[in-house]
Amino acid sequence: MAILKTEDKEVEVPDNESLIDAAQELGVLFSCENGTCGTCLTNIEEGEENLNELTPAEKDYGIEEGENRRLMCQCRIKEGEVKIRYDGF
Ligand code: FES
Repeated sequence: MAILKTEDKEVEVPDNESLIDAAQELGVLFSCENGTCGTCLTNIEEGEENLNELTPAEKDYGIEEGENRRLMCQCRIKEGEVKIRYDGF
């Protein structure tokens, strides 16, 4: 099990599974769920190395490697913990 968390809450999620449900529980909003709208753009505060590689959709959106921002609808945790901060849309 991996853990997706914020400053004050954490949610368990199976390794390599979609984070949409877990992120929603932590207050992240979603719309398109396919990496185009940017609603779910989230700051990664810790554990970026535990996430899957940037997807083509995230690259098209303009996110670059090491930027510590990801589209949650495109993310999976390989293993371990990832701490996020969602500033809203
Ligand atoms: S919900 Fe649209 S980019 Fe993630």
